[in-house]
Amino acid sequence: MKLVMIELAIDFQSEPVRVVVTGAAGQIAYSLLYMVAKGDVFGPNQPVILHLLDIPPMMGVVQGVVMELSDCALPLLRGVVPTADPDVAFKDVDAAFLVGAMPRKEGMERKDLLAANVGIFKVQGQAIERNAKRTIKVLVVGNPANTNALVCSKYAPSIPKENFTAMTRLDQNRATAHIAERLNVSCADVSNVIIWGNHSSTQFPDVRHANATVNGAKVSVSEAIKDDEYLKTQFVEKIQKRGAAVIAARKLSSAMSAAKAASDHMKDWWQGSANWVSMGVISDGSYGVPADVVFSFPVICSDKKWTIVQGLEIDEYARGKLDITAKELIEEREEALAVCQDSNL
Ligand SMILES: NC(=O)c1ccc[n+]([C@@H]2O[C@H](COP(=O)([O-])OP(=O)(O)OC[C@H]3O[C@@H](n4cnc5c(N)ncnc54)[C@H](O)[C@@H]3O)[C@@H](O)[C@H]2O)c1
Repeated sequence: MKLVMIELAIDFQSEPVRVVVTGAAGQIAYSLLYMVAKGDVFGPNQPVILHLLDIPPMMGVVQGVVMELSDCALPLLRGVVPTADPDVAFKDVDAAFLVGAMPRKEGMERKDLLAANVGIFKVQGQAIERNAKRTIKVLVVGNPANTNALVCSKYAPSIPKENFTAMTRLDQNRATAHIAERLNVSCADVSNVIIWGNHSSTQFPDVRHANATVNGAKVSVSEAIKDDEYLKTQFVEKIQKRGAAVIAARKLSSAMSAAKAASDHMKDWWQGSANWVSMGVISDGSYGVPADVVFSFPVICSDKKWTIVQGLEIDEYARGKLDITAKELIEEREEALAVCQDSNL
């Protein structure tokens, strides 16, 4: 018991990690900042200094968030740096949550968002290149997340491409929760659900390799649900359209669940993952996916690195789904790079 206490005391002295959250005045950040500041992401003994970036008109709101963070009296929070200057925001940071972007409104297609948002990620890539630690871990949440992550990495060429990821964890969590509800088990009893491809309605939520513990026995989800047709059609569609369903109901895009997913993603990357998790990562051509797109694969994380899970069977049905979402990502990439060049930012 004594030994444990000494170890905790030493950990507590460790250098704070600097973490930037962009879109700090927004609704996702409002939930996410609390999770980061109380130790959910970087560990219960790891102090943090939060950098909060938003645009100049939102600085008043950001000041309110700074006050609330202070009022939470969180022992791990060692400092807060509110700013509208990307060079200040990214200075010496260890981890970045790139949340700030224009959110999708009801009836708005993701493609409409692309032109509005790629410029933001070009500027932030350049600021990362100038200021951040070379080991920075970047998670892009702002949509279109996969393509924004690609754009950002292109403008930070001295930082490894593997350090830029996009969030599909919300889709994974949605799919996992849906299967758990259907089987009347806890989410913790469902593992290895995969999201392939883009964080969009072309994503492929795949439970062909997923397992569930039902009545104490571990079985495949397919065996447990006993309805492959449902898993291939209605289930896939439900997860693909879940974001739109939340917008229709809330008149705002997912926020609490998006923050939880961002926290899960960075935590697994930083501290290691127990099971497969899905992350948008730079494609190396695995599973016949074209290179140079940020594509969601099943990965395992350890030593602060992700590795794509290899050797999974891709049948004709899955091949079709992977190809559709890959095609969309290639189109997005071409449009995004054209916008970056035209805008001369
Ligand atoms: N990947 C996912 O699973 C997922 C899930 C939900 C939402 N999202 C996306 O996350 C993003 C944020 O959503 P939200 O609900 O928090 O939106 P929000 O509108 O509440 O907040 C966005 C914030 O970003 C700020 N911002 C805009 N441009 C900025 C810039 N250049 N630098 C810094 N900050 C900037 C805005 O001022 C605003 O405060 C949206 O793009 C949304 O579509 C992604």
